[in-house]
Amino acid sequence: MMNDKLTIAVVGLGHVGLPLAMAFAKKYSVIGYDSNRIRINQLLEGKDKTGQVNAQQLAESGIDFTSDPSSLTAAGFIMIAVATPIDSADQPDLSQLLEACSIVGRYMKKGAVIVFESTVYPGATEEECIPKLEEYSSLESGVEFFVGYSPERFNPGERKLPITKIKKVVAGQNEAVLDYVAEIYGSVMDAGIFKAKSIRVAEAAKVIENTQQDVNIALINEFSLIFNHLGIDTGAVLETAGTKKAF
Ligand SMILES: NC(=O)c1ccc[n+]([C@@H]2O[C@H](COP(=O)([O-])OP(=O)(O)OC[C@H]3O[C@@H](n4cnc5c(N)ncnc54)[C@H](O)[C@@H]3O)[C@@H](O)[C@H]2O)c1
Repeated sequence: MMNDKLTIAVVGLGHVGLPLAMAFAKKYSVIGYDSNRIRINQLLEGKDKTGQVNAQQLAESGIDFTSDPSSLTAAGFIMIAVATPIDSADQPDLSQLLEACSIVGRYMKKGAVIVFESTVYPGATEEECIPKLEEYSSLESGVEFFVGYSPERFNPGERKLPITKIKKVVAGQNEAVLDYVAEIYGSVMDAGIFKAKSIRVAEAAKVIENTQQDVNIALINEFSLIFNHLGIDTGAVLETAGTKKAF
């Protein structure tokens, strides 16, 4: 069921959240919430410090930028895109994510669909985020509110490629949620969507996508050192090897 009157909220308007809000604002009424008032004021003044969106695009987006969490009550579909770094002991730091869950839990309306975009370890959405949403909303997950997961997957080296041109993985806590989340994302993602078998599968797929990227970068850095010693241009080597399909 597609709802033209659906109001969508994006929580966390950083590198991932802002382009996401911009993409959905082409079709829906969008609330852009960030707890950082400075970030909100800058966006209202037409300044995006991540350099992805210009002043005219911000002005024309129609996004309701706010640092007032009570505005989330108006949203039927809420995407959470806050940072998930590691701490000084290399452990996942979920503090921003859990804080966002407590805020969303406090203000979301009954029946809302919450989709996590942040990169997390497999199991984090169901074991950490859903309990926090339930605790702060006093609502039951899967009955009174619904949860999905859709990892952002743009490459840092390809910032110019709009996120709508990258196939989007979506997952839901059950079949009905999956279908609904797929319908909403599918309505703005030109490259289409892929329905993952479960939230854990989508979380794990994102982990190996990032790992493959990191291993690739580290490997080519090593080769680059060797090629430098041999007086060979690494860029020319990559161009040559890249003519093999799937390199
Ligand atoms: N940046 C990338 O290239 C990239 C690519 C793919 C996936 N990701 C993942 O996407 C997620 C977001 O990363 P990012 O780079 O956009 O982070 P970011 O630091 O650029 O943005 C996070 C935003 O969330 C806001 N925020 C923090 N706590 C909040 C709260 N409780 N309520 C509302 N807003 C809050 C911050 O003020 C900030 O503006 C992470 O999990 C990251 O791993 C990032």
